[in-house]
Amino acid sequence: METKKINDFPNDFLWGSSSASFQCEGASREDGKGLSVMDVRKIDPSICDFSVASDHYHRYKEDIALMKEMGLKAYRFSIAWTRIFPEGNGQVNEKGVAFYNDLIDELIKADITPIVTIYHFDYPLGLVKQYGGWLDRRSIDDYVNYAEFLFKTYGDRVKYWLTINEQDHVVHMPFRLGFECEDRKEAEKLGYLANHHMCVAAAKAIGKCHEIVKGGKIGPATCYTMFYPTTNSPADMLACMDANEIRNLYHLDMNIKGEYSPVFRRYLEDRDMMPEVYEGDMEVMKENRPDFLAFNYYYSESVSANPCDENHPIGDIGFKLLPSREAGIYQVVKNENLKATLWGWEIDDIGLQCSARQLWDRYHLPLLITENGFGNKEVWPEEGILEDDDRIDYLSKHLHQIKEAMNLGVEFIGYCSWSFMDLISGHSGFSKRYGFVYVNRDEHDLKDLARRKKKSFYWYKDTIAENGKNI
Ligand code: BG6
Repeated sequence: METKKINDFPNDFLWGSSSASFQCEGASREDGKGLSVMDVRKIDPSICDFSVASDHYHRYKEDIALMKEMGLKAYRFSIAWTRIFPEGNGQVNEKGVAFYNDLIDELIKADITPIVTIYHFDYPLGLVKQYGGWLDRRSIDDYVNYAEFLFKTYGDRVKYWLTINEQDHVVHMPFRLGFECEDRKEAEKLGYLANHHMCVAAAKAIGKCHEIVKGGKIGPATCYTMFYPTTNSPADMLACMDANEIRNLYHLDMNIKGEYSPVFRRYLEDRDMMPEVYEGDMEVMKENRPDFLAFNYYYSESVSANPCDENHPIGDIGFKLLPSREAGIYQVVKNENLKATLWGWEIDDIGLQCSARQLWDRYHLPLLITENGFGNKEVWPEEGILEDDDRIDYLSKHLHQIKEAMNLGVEFIGYCSWSFMDLISGHSGFSKRYGFVYVNRDEHDLKDLARRKKKSFYWYKDTIAENGKNI
C-alpha cells in the first residue's frame, strides 16, 4: 500500500552478498578435498566444470579486500562439506579446516559478519557410495556430525548459520542427490524421502547449534517463488494457493512448525509418495525451531488451473527439471505484465514484498534475504568499466520492496545479493554472471582470472555507506 511516510533501513541492517563453495572456490581436487555430487555432475561440454570456478580458494584475501573496500557488512558463503570430511564422514581433512579458519578470520579482520551455509548443493559423493546419501536415514547422523563439527570449530566467530540451501530445489533434482532416474514419478518419491531426512537432520542441527554456539542463530535458506493466479477466475486462485503449498511451504512447515501441512500430506498420499515417519521425527522438528527464515528470491510465476483429464490423471507430472505443471493442480503460464532475463526468469520486485509478507504472516520469524540477483551475459569493454545498469536497477528496486515490507511491520535481518563476484551459475556456466566484481575468464579460457569492479560495485558501496537512503 502507499503510505505517507517510509521508514529508513535500521542501522544494524546487514548489507551483504553471497556465494557458494563449489561455484566460486575451484581447487576442487586440492589439499585433500573429496568429491561432491557437483564435481562429478554430467555437464554439457559447452559449459565449464567446477574445477577452477572463480579461483576464490587461492584468491580469497584479494576478494575479501574488495568486500572491505565496498564496505560490505556481511558475507554469506558455504562450507564445502568434502573439504572438511572428504568422504562425508570419518577422517577430518585439516587443510580444509584451516582454509575456512583463515577465511573467517580474514572476514572478521575486515569487519564483515560471516553467514555460513552448512550445505549448498555439494553433497559428498562418499556418502552416496556408502549408503545412497539422503535416501538413507544414516544421512541424518552424518549431516548432524558434520554440522556439530562446524559449530565447535567456527562457532566462536560465526553466529549466523544456514542449515540447507534450497532444499526445495534439491529434492526435485536427482543429480544433486547423487542418483539418476528417468522415471519422474519415482524420482519425486525418492526426493520426498530425502526431504524428510533433511528436515529431521536440519532440526537436529538447530538443536546442536543452540547448544554449542553462544549467541548463535540458525535457520533454513529456501528458494521462494511468488505465485499469482493468471486470471481472476476462482479456479486459478485455487491453483495458485496449491502451487504455493506444494512448491514453497511444504518443507517450511516441517522446518518451522514441525508438521506436514494437511494439503501436502494429502498430495503425497494421493501419489503414494508419503515417506515413512519414524517415532520422534516430528517431535524433533517441533522442538528445534529456527531463529530466522532465510530465502532466495529471483522471480515470480503466474499459474492457472490444470484440470485432470483422461490422458493426464492425478500424478501426471509435466516437467523435467524444476516443477512447472501438475495435472489436477496448476500450470505455470507466462506473465504478460513482466519482463524477463535472458533465461526467462520474470523480473518482479513487487513479488519480493509479497513473498516477505506471506512468509512473515505464516511464520512470524525475522527474514534474511540470502540470494537475489540479476544474471546476465557480460563482456568487459575495451575502455572504461562494465556498466551493469540493468543489475543496479534490479537490485535497487528489490531493495526498495524490502524497505516497503519493513515499513509495514515485516522484520528483516539483512539482504545478501547474489553474488559478490562472478561465479559459475548453477546451470549455465560462466556465461551467466551475477557479480559486482567481474572475474576475467570465459567458459573454457581461464585468462588471468583478474578481478574488476563493475559499475554496480560502486553503486552498492554508496548504498551501504548511506544505509540505503538512496533506495
Ligand atoms: C539459487 C542457488 O538457486 O540460484 C545458487 O542457490 C544459484 O546456487 C542461483 O547459482 C542462481 O541460479 P543460476 O542457475 O542462475 O546460477
